[in-house]
Amino acid sequence: MKRILTGIQSTGTPHLGNILGVMIPSIDLSNQNSKFSSFIFVADLHSLTKIKDFDVIRNNTYQIAAAWLAFGLNTEKSIFYRQSDVSEVTELAWYLNCFFPFQRLTLAHSFKKKRENHEKINVGLFTYPILMAADILLYNAEIIPVGKDQLQHVEIARYIANRFNQRIGKKIFVSPESFIQQEAMSIIGTDGEKMSKSKKNCIDIFSSDEILRKQIMNIHTDNKSLKEKKNPDKDSIMSLYKLLAPIDRVEEMRKKYIEGGYGYLDAKIALYECIIKKFSVERKNFFSLIKKKSLLDRILSSGAQKAKYIAKDRLNKIRKNLKLNPSS
Ligand code: TRP
Repeated sequence: MKRILTGIQSTGTPHLGNILGVMIPSIDLSNQNSKFSSFIFVADLHSLTKIKDFDVIRNNTYQIAAAWLAFGLNTEKSIFYRQSDVSEVTELAWYLNCFFPFQRLTLAHSFKKKRENHEKINVGLFTYPILMAADILLYNAEIIPVGKDQLQHVEIARYIANRFNQRIGKKIFVSPESFIQQEAMSIIGTDGEKMSKSKKNCIDIFSSDEILRKQIMNIHTDNKSLKEKKNPDKDSIMSLYKLLAPIDRVEEMRKKYIEGGYGYLDAKIALYECIIKKFSVERKNFFSLIKKKSLLDRILSSGAQKAKYIAKDRLNKIRKNLKLNPSS
């Protein structure tokens, strides 16, 4: 049985990019439970590289957890936990740190970009990909559903796995592979760039109707008038609508773009209504779950217990190969 594993950082409410690119495909895979076992977690330790307000991180963790559950993650079939509850991962990250060349880590794009922009960088941010490799290798996960921006990180995990195995002379780690949802590879944000929390161009389906509407009304377009013909292949509203609406509706909108006499405002309203309708159940679930923090805590703790049981055993095997004593 292959292991699927993925995490989302607790840097805010999951946006449409996270949902279409990672959550829905991971839930679909984990529901095929005869073939896969799955590990899904909230990466709160990773968010500590960016956020220093601990209440915010804790709150974001609930948001991410509620979103997974709202989309129907089955916690009987998958191990669902908070990363920081399974501290074994940080121990493994240390060992992995000692097997990865410094120079190579300076090429990781998360770090390189920030350095080029002369942003303040903490050591945690620099070694972020190593902690991610530990998340994966601790459970010997093989299939890693991620967005395109995380491909390099999974590559790093593969590299460390091989290097470590070679050094030890045994196959302790299996090589993980990314699982990418083709059509969701780059989801366009409201400014026409890739949707990303740091760019503040997200569509947050779990925000209030009012905010969601505002975000959609903010989508950048060219300044063609209502009457003019429009290009459906070069437009952000259309590119989002294509991902969400039924195919006949998409065709209808395409036609209206090409014919003219259909304004961007009309298209935005159609997109808003489509989102509200498509995610009505999930939004309702989310708004109810987010009020039940103790329930979320209970679910995450019970997942952490299961994860910890496996993690401890794996870590002791790794310790043994490093000629370290087992931990109790
Ligand atoms: N880095 C991922 C993100 O930013 C989150 C993450 C942490 C992750 N550890 C992981 C994803 C392990 C997949 C596997 O979204």
